[in-house]
Amino acid sequence: MEFAEVVRRRRMVRDYDPDRPVPPEVRERLLEHAIRAPSAGFSQGWAFVVLETAEERDSFWAATAGEGAPDAWLTRMRRAPLLILPLANKSAYLERYAEPDKGWTDRDEARWPVPYWDVDAGMASLLMLLTAVDEGLGACFFGVPVERLDAVRAAFGIPAEYRPVGCVSVGYPGTDDRRSPSLRRGRRGVDEVVHRGRW
Ligand SMILES: Cc1cc2nc3c(=O)[nH]c(=O)nc-3n(C[C@H](O)[C@H](O)[C@H](O)COP(=O)(O)O)c2cc1C
Repeated sequence: MEFAEVVRRRRMVRDYDPDRPVPPEVRERLLEHAIRAPSAGFSQGWAFVVLETAEERDSFWAATAGEGAPDAWLTRMRRAPLLILPLANKSAYLERYAEPDKGWTDRDEARWPVPYWDVDAGMASLLMLLTAVDEGLGACFFGVPVERLDAVRAAFGIPAEYRPVGCVSVGYPGTDDRRSPSLRRGRRGVDEVVHRGRW
């Protein structure tokens, strides 16, 4: 698919065909593309937890959504045959930037204009979203509630220094997909958001 078409077609998919698993070669391509993302100081302080079996995915949903009856969003999202958790490791960045070529030996977080560890995991996530479209599949990036982060870490043995920046669900789109109501806001146009030369 043309790159411009991949970008144009990309949208979050929130319903999946539960009977069509993600082909293993597509799963691997998602991950291979993810690690092509740029990273500050080439720190690559990311990691990815791949959840594919029904048991693994159930554990994720139990950890994030609790025990109550699933709402419509969750019912559809649970059909995703593949979940990938992109994780960011802040300490990897603090260590990398303490090296001689960077020189931030005090490891002071105040030096960081924005959390590059989260930026980089986000870039890797976008590459997975685009790769899914390129492969004819759908995907959705969604957040993990802050109060559930420890439960997710515990469920999958994730080290304390790694934090999921969200979760990427992947699969063949289902027939009951719903667009986000947020889209009613309309896409802000180039002229509205771009400031050429100065603000
Ligand atoms: C950081 C981030 C967090 C998001 N969290 C959620 C979420 O928790 N649940 C959800 O359904 N969509 C989530 N989305 C998807 C947005 O709702 C979606 O990207 C936006 O409405 C634009 O729609 P589109 O991506 O289909 O073009 C998230 C997107 C981003 C970038």
